[in-house]
Amino acid sequence: MRNPTARPGSVRSIRVIGIGAGSPGHVTAEAAEALAEVDVFLVADKGDAKDELVAVRRAICDRFVPADHPYEFVTVPDPRRGPDAERDSGAYAQGVRNWHAARTDAYVRVIEELPADAVVGFLVWGDPAFYDSTIRVVDAIGERLPTTVRVIPGISAFQTLAAAHGIVLHRVGEPVHVTTGRRLVDEWTRAESAGLDLGTVVVMLDGHLHCREIAHTHPDTVIHWGAYVGMPQQELRSGRLADVIDEIVDLRARLREEHGWVMDVYALTPPRAGLSR
Ligand SMILES: C[S@@+](CC[C@H](N)C(=O)[O-])C[C@H]1O[C@@H](n2cnc3c(N)ncnc32)[C@H](O)[C@@H]1O
Repeated sequence: MRNPTARPGSVRSIRVIGIGAGSPGHVTAEAAEALAEVDVFLVADKGDAKDELVAVRRAICDRFVPADHPYEFVTVPDPRRGPDAERDSGAYAQGVRNWHAARTDAYVRVIEELPADAVVGFLVWGDPAFYDSTIRVVDAIGERLPTTVRVIPGISAFQTLAAAHGIVLHRVGEPVHVTTGRRLVDEWTRAESAGLDLGTVVVMLDGHLHCREIAHTHPDTVIHWGAYVGMPQQELRSGRLADVIDEIVDLRARLREEHGWVMDVYALTPPRAGLSR
């Protein structure tokens, strides 16, 4: 597949494919079609316990790419990222920018070595539109090489969470606020002081279960929590935040210990919505 003589300036075809939150059953017909067009999949290799997530991607390719379509699966070592938890927002944003730039360099180097007509695929966990940098990195690649890009949506972790619990995330006609663990408490308290109703708050990327910090002030908030949603090791808990938070904290720590990694997502709903659908 290597072709060091690829003409500079030739337009590279890139597919950014949402593959869902870990179950091969999440791969949509549109995603399966796009998978079958790709010649080279580029996958970030984080070199840790999350190798299991690379294995899920490989399994998806094996299942959905037709046997008569040869493809390469190239893992690109992911540049090291600094310690986010110790950074303030400015340093965090700069850290992420530096990391994106290093990732872009790594991908450009690999793509430049491929035949000009090779279709390049990025397999994005969940949906590429939520807390994933692939589209930004692909845009940055486009500033260095001519590209045509197609994005295929996927099923996000929070959609999977809602389905697993069998709930609608919001009350009729009301909003859903999607945020990260590091922003949760600040946004929650600022919205409350401003009298702003965020509706249901969905929290992703929360390694510290920051909802603990509001459990004593908002005990009746309802939490719907899930780890490894859509995967065989899925765990779900729900209830009054004050009643279930300790169990969730303990369970999360145990799961992390047992599997070497954990991904979880949760939704916080104001008490008047209760647990009803
Ligand atoms: C980098 S973000 C990627 C989100 C992804 N693009 C999506 O649409 O779901 C990773 C976060 O997504 C959530 N997540 C992704 N897959 C998950 C899963 N199978 N179970 C629970 N949470 C998951 C977790 O909050 C995790 O910290």
